Order: sequence, then C-alpha cells, then structure tokens
Amino acid sequence: MPQAGGAAYRPGMSRHVIRPFAEADLPAAAGLLAERHREHRKRHPLLPAEYEDEQVAVVEVTALWESESASGAVLLEGDELTGYVLGAPKPSPVWGPNVWIEAAGQAVREPEHIRDLYGAAAAKWVDDGRTAQYVLVPDDAELVDAWFRLGFGSQHAHAVRPAPTTRLEAPPGLTVRRGTRDDIAVLAELDLVLPQHQGQSPVFSAGELPTLEEALADWEESIDDLDYATFVAEYDGRVIGSSVGCSVDKSSAHSGLARPDNAGFLGYAAVLPEARGRGAGRALGEAVLQWSADTGYTAVVTDWRVTNLLSSRTWPKLGFQQTFHRLHRLIGY
Ligand SMILES: CC(C)(COP(=O)(O)OP(=O)(O)OC[C@H]1O[C@@H](n2cnc3c(N)ncnc32)[C@H](O)[C@@H]1OP(=O)(O)O)[C@@H](O)C(=O)NCCC(=O)NCCS
Repeated sequence: MPQAGGAAYRPGMSRHVIRPFAEADLPAAAGLLAERHREHRKRHPLLPAEYEDEQVAVVEVTALWESESASGAVLLEGDELTGYVLGAPKPSPVWGPNVWIEAAGQAVREPEHIRDLYGAAAAKWVDDGRTAQYVLVPDDAELVDAWFRLGFGSQHAHAVRPAPTTRLEAPPGLTVRRGTRDDIAVLAELDLVLPQHQGQSPVFSAGELPTLEEALADWEESIDDLDYATFVAEYDGRVIGSSVGCSVDKSSAHSGLARPDNAGFLGYAAVLPEARGRGAGRALGEAVLQWSADTGYTAVVTDWRVTNLLSSRTWPKLGFQQTFHRLHRLIGY
C-alpha cells in the first residue's frame, strides 16, 4: 500500500507499516488514546473520566502535535491505526537537550509495538541532538517493560489517592499547625532540604539549589497567599518540618489525562535530617490530605523521584498509588 508522508517501512515479516505521524492521524490516534485511558481508569478511577471520550482526547493529542518541533510515528495494520508515539522538546534547560513523550504522547494496541514506533521516531530526535529522553508511561506492566527494553529506566512517579474520609491526627508529642510569618526563617531553611537531599546520591538531581536569601524572599512574598496551605510540625517546641498543599491545577507536571479532577496536591514536604523517622513526615503529609478533604477535594495527587529513598518510601505508606512512570534514557554512552 502506498504511504503518504515520507519513508515507510515494514518491521520484520509482519503486515505492519510504520510511517511518520501526520495531521490526518489525529482522530485515530485520539481513539486509541481514549481506549488506553479507559483501561487505565479501571485501575485508577480517580484519573479524569472525560478523556475516555475521543472528542476530548483529540484536544490533548492535537495540542502535542501542534507544539514546537513535535514529531512521531504511527503504526498501521491494514487501514487501521493501531499505535502512535509523539514527542516534543521542553524549552527548560534543566532537562538537557531533550524530547518528552507526554501522557497523551503514546497509545498502542500491542505493547511490543511501542518499540517499533520509538525506533522509527527516535532517529530524528537523536539526529536533532535530542539525546535526553523522557516518557510518561501509564502503569501498564507490559508497556513499562517494552520501554525498559528500549534502554529507559524509572526516574519519577506520579501518584494519587482519595481524599481521606475520617479525620487524621498527628501522633502524641508532635504538633502540626499552619505556618505563620513568624516561621519564615525555618520555612526558608526547610526549603533547601529537598534540593540538598536530591542533589546527593542516589538522586543526583540537577535541580537548582536556591540560596537561603532567595528562599527567605520567596516566603516573605508568599506566606499569606491563600492558594497555598503551609503546615509546620513542632517537636519539643521547635519546628522540624514543613509541608505545602495547593490545588493540583498549580502543577504543570500534572496535566491533561494525568491530572485527576477536583484534586489537592501535596506539593512540598521536608523534615530536618536529625528529626526524620519519628512520624513528622507522615503527620505533615496527612495535614495536606486533611486540608484537601476540608477544602472539598475528592482526590490528592503527589509525585516523587523514585531514586529519593525517603519520599519514595514515605508517600506510598500514606496511601498514594502510582498512576504514571516517568522513564528516562540518556543516549550516547
Ligand atoms: C520524606 C520525609 C518528609 C519523610 O519524613 P519523616 O519524618 O522521615 O517520615 P516519617 O517518620 O513520618 O515516616 C513516614 C512513613 O514512611 C516510612 N519511611 C520513612 N522513611 C523510611 C525509610 N528510609 N525506609 C522505610 N520506610 C520509611 C515510615 O516507616 C513511615 O511509615 P509508617 O508511618 O507506616 O511507619 C523526610 O524523609 C524528608 O524530609 N526527606 C528529604 C526531603 C524529601 O524527600 N521530601 C519529600 C519531597 S517529595
């Protein structure tokens, strides 16, 4: 069958044809994405229902397709589109010379086919120098395994849980309360704790470490911002940790079909190193869960670096279930 849109090739002996993604593929790709999302929601009903509708899913795929320097591939079986992948770079320098496959950037009937699709699409990405590659994969074990066999490994977890329905209280000896202007000095100190921790082994994150002065200035400006709920934990009359809750809409990392409806967001938490392991992290996380329930949210979202040995163990204990894996591959070595 003749193919439009450039080089088509047939992997192996199958009747599959792979060719570059084209605008005319958007409706069929959206149909597949809606199908994928219906399966995903069977495991995670808190993910937004609207994207089960291909008329809504098409908006997401179209936005990706229209983003700067987007490209990808589709797989056809006969006349039917049964897989696609779409990637585009993010401008921020923190990700390196990158390409991202976002939550709406892939769907396949057969997980193994993502390897053929990536094989076709990645040639251009690497030719363009985009050697730092990121992909958001639903927690479908076969799909994750297929990406694993493309050289990708786990970097980050996206997770959700229902808002609590019974009241959560801090353990004896620990007080959790709202942060006030009087707490600014320790809040600023605690703001450095996460980037400091994540700069070390085994996270080795390249995230920027603010100075104490910058953190102080930030808190001076934002402490009264009603869109954010700040909590501090006190032990023996001294603040040892903080957490921040807000609407998930404030987080660009959670968007489209990876953003649960009506959800609160556990956006930050840190406990001073010498005070860890006494339940303060749990109590601070639970303060944000309780605030989310009191605010009327039905779900709570958070995310973590999977190489962060502390957060990756703490948040699942608080009932968060992983919905998406962000996988990463660095090419060239
Ligand atoms: C993540 C962090 C806030 C947790 O605070 P903490 O006071 O040490 O945690 P807690 O003592 O309340 O423990 C919370 C739960 O996680 C578990 N947990 C915590 N650290 C653990 C570890 N190293 N190994 C196994 N389980 C661990 C605890 O057993 C506890 O579960 P339980 O209540 O069911 O027993 C804290 O470790 C921290 O500040 N880390 C550095 C910054 C950071 O990673 N922040 C999170 C941003 S995403």
